[in-house]
Amino acid sequence: MSSAHDQAHHDPHHQSFISKYIFSTDHKVIGIQYLFMSLFFLFFGFCLMLLMRWQIAYPGHPLPIIGNLFGADSMPGGVMLPEFYNQLGAMHGTIMVFLGVVPLGFAVFGNYLIPLQIGAKDMAFPRLNMFSYWSFFVGGLLMLSSFFLPGGPG
Ligand code: HEM
Repeated sequence: MSSAHDQAHHDPHHQSFISKYIFSTDHKVIGIQYLFMSLFFLFFGFCLMLLMRWQIAYPGHPLPIIGNLFGADSMPGGVMLPEFYNQLGAMHGTIMVFLGVVPLGFAVFGNYLIPLQIGAKDMAFPRLNMFSYWSFFVGGLLMLSSFFLPGGPG
């Protein structure tokens, strides 16, 4: 038996893959998109902290295997510069708070569950909701891309 909520949703047969799953206005799909992206950012922030803890465990030693990937501005010869250590801390905190925990706590559960709980068809402004997710996506990747800028992130 389908609920009034299910019936209110768009007919999936008339939607392309892109409008159904990528640029979707469905609050559940958007909630799941937020889930995957915020978990990705949480993992990224966690990896930054692993780099910092390596430096504390083995100060002045080159980071094995991936040390040379970061470039001479950040880790000459694989050895972490103090400036890069600070940048990692700043990026960890900012990524975790704004791209990890807040989207996970509010955007994921808010999008997925609240319309279901109150029996609404969708969010009040579904296209604005979609725009909000893609702003978060582009803004987050822009923030990560600052690692490739001269002078580093932060
Ligand atoms: C994934 C697991 C996490 C690990 C292993 C971790 C580890 C750490 C460590 C070791 C520090 C101290 C760095 C130092 O100054 O020596 C730190 C700083 C910090 N963490 Fe995390 N953390 C994690 C998750 C989070 C989460 C979920 C948040 C926020 C919601 C967060 C926010 C912060 C902030 C704001 C700082 C201060 C950054 C700064 O010095 O500018 N962390 N974290």
